[in-house]
Amino acid sequence: MLLTEFGKSIGRINQRSEGEIVKPVQVLLIGLGRVGTRFYEKFHLLGEDRVKILAICEIDPGHPFLASLKEDGIPVFQDYKDALSRWGSDIDIILDTTNIPSVKIDIRHILQESGNHHTVLLPLVASYLLWHMAAPDEELVQDHSNPGY
Ligand SMILES: NC(=O)c1ccc[n+]([C@@H]2O[C@H](COP(=O)([O-])OP(=O)(O)OC[C@H]3O[C@@H](n4cnc5c(N)ncnc54)[C@H](O)[C@@H]3O)[C@@H](O)[C@H]2O)c1
Repeated sequence: MLLTEFGKSIGRINQRSEGEIVKPVQVLLIGLGRVGTRFYEKFHLLGEDRVKILAICEIDPGHPFLASLKEDGIPVFQDYKDALSRWGSDIDIILDTTNIPSVKIDIRHILQESGNHHTVLLPLVASYLLWHMAAPDEELVQDHSNPGY
């Protein structure tokens, strides 16, 4: 028996019943490169009742994807600090795809300083895991230095 069938048979994996309220995961996405853009598309497809993208942070004001975010009604910040102070502990998960280690260090510092014990900054290794699950058929050319996790 497949694991999914097993799960269904013991009632762990069910279709949502009508009217069921499940709190969406509230995400702040930082960086709209190859990975960030793909995550955005995947989350958007899942729908706001599952994943609510609170905002996107992209440092490049001329990024070609920003226009379609505007159409989708997604707030865009150039400086992630502004988004962090706007949304605070309403953010469940921060997905930082900037490929800049000092950004993660700075975010950790901001969360600590602001007493935000709720928001989780997704570790790089977890974003790889998420990538493998979200885009199992999509391999990216690994032109980053060894992520090291
Ligand atoms: N399969 C994979 O390769 C995979 C899977 C998951 C995660 N990752 C990791 O994702 C990260 C990003 O990879 P990529 O290929 O998308 O990189 P990329 O260079 O294409 O994208 C980075 C983006 O972040 C933006 N950015 C830079 N500094 C910023 C800042 N301070 N604030 C907001 N935006 C900023 C850049 O303008 C750019 O749009 C890497 O660290 C990589 O290791 C890779």
